[in-house]
Amino acid sequence: MSEKPAEARRAGEQDGRSAWERTGRAGSDRADRIMRERCGKGRGKGNERNMSTMQQYIEEAESALLHTYNRYQVVLDRGEGVYLYDINGKKYLDFASGIAVFALGYHYQDYDDALKAQIDKLIHTSNYYYNVPAVEAAKKLKAVSGMDRVFFTNSGAEAIEGAIKAARKYAFLKDGKTDHEIVAMEHSFHGRTMGALSVTGNPKYREAFEPGIGNIRFARMNDFDSVLDNVGEKTCAILLETVQGEGGIFPAEEGFLKSLRKLCDERDILLILDEIQCGMGRTGSMFAWQKYGVKPDIMACAKALGCGVPVGAFLMTEKAGANSLKDGDHGTTYGGNPLACAAICKVLDLFEKNHIIEHVGEISGYLEERLDALVSKKYGIVARRGAGLMQGLVFDRPVAPVIASALEKGLILINAGADVIRFVPALIVGREEVDEMMEILESCLAEQRA
Ligand SMILES: Cc1ncc(COP(=O)(O)O)c(C=O)c1O
Repeated sequence: MSEKPAEARRAGEQDGRSAWERTGRAGSDRADRIMRERCGKGRGKGNERNMSTMQQYIEEAESALLHTYNRYQVVLDRGEGVYLYDINGKKYLDFASGIAVFALGYHYQDYDDALKAQIDKLIHTSNYYYNVPAVEAAKKLKAVSGMDRVFFTNSGAEAIEGAIKAARKYAFLKDGKTDHEIVAMEHSFHGRTMGALSVTGNPKYREAFEPGIGNIRFARMNDFDSVLDNVGEKTCAILLETVQGEGGIFPAEEGFLKSLRKLCDERDILLILDEIQCGMGRTGSMFAWQKYGVKPDIMACAKALGCGVPVGAFLMTEKAGANSLKDGDHGTTYGGNPLACAAICKVLDLFEKNHIIEHVGEISGYLEERLDALVSKKYGIVARRGAGLMQGLVFDRPVAPVIASALEKGLILINAGADVIRFVPALIVGREEVDEMMEILESCLAEQRA
């Protein structure tokens, strides 16, 4: 592992050493140590054999897969509820849920059965034909969002690509020009494809891949004057995450969103909200913007929409839909295929049946309370911020060592930038699991302080 991936570089600027180096992940030392410790605790020869199997998979992965991820030295095998198990059977409490994907938890029988039934029927057909799961999924998605038109994609980035194209086409149809601009936000994250990358407000992600698609301007989140400074005659869209995720868990302020909506209405600019991470119940309403009563013209979603099956979608109001993408303007082979749409249908059904949104409202108050209590202790925590089950603890130092130590103790956490621990558990998480998480986290923090 000679190359330091971007994430490790990102996390490591504070003291000149990278997180990669600080956490000992530059070589296989840390992995070896974890494995020795786990093998050493009276587990006997069987486990040593397992450990070498784990190491072997890791080595094989590193020699076969393109090294674009700074992976932890764990090979995951199966999941159950809010727990994951590695190939040696070690149990992990998962407060990352595949980065805000597994809203319903792992191995949800109803969901698994629905997918199996669809596999037995029809997995894929081309978009030249209609299929029932796609119709059903679109209807359900319209009902929960109040949007009018749906285009299914395979990922979040692809949903953003579609949203960008729709906005450009909308403006093109008005004046026939091709120099329209999009105003996006600093510290935003919208994905890794060229269009999504171009509107991502962290230059470190874009740097090596410039030039992007062009005509993108960046304003400051929650600073309406900064948006006004960037909006002009050419602006066709304003794009933001309703709650910024990767950038450090920053919710948009209600006043800011409302001002954006008004500005967009006055100037016939499209408001695009990225709900890929913060949508699907995560913040306590199906989509985060619904709490503010600020409806976008275009919305992108993905992640928990499929709860594990790779899907995304961009949705439009009738006005945006009827005046933008037309026959032949956009397409995808897999987007909206029967298997993916069967997953969406089941997810939306289970959200309703299990009152997931109500549950998030109840449990997130408890998580906030527990996290707030931690802020007041002297662990170098500066603040908590977030909404619902999308929370961040902001530290005065890099969080990589805490996350690594939590993993060793069987707790999966992720960061959001170098100094924020992000909490995005499955939406079915209960009080007991919050307590379990807090106990492990606090023991890691206490150890780091010692
Ligand atoms: C807010 C947001 N937008 C877009 C994306 C890109 O989604 P995907 O990784 O599915 O392409 C992500 C992924 O983390 C995200 O958090």
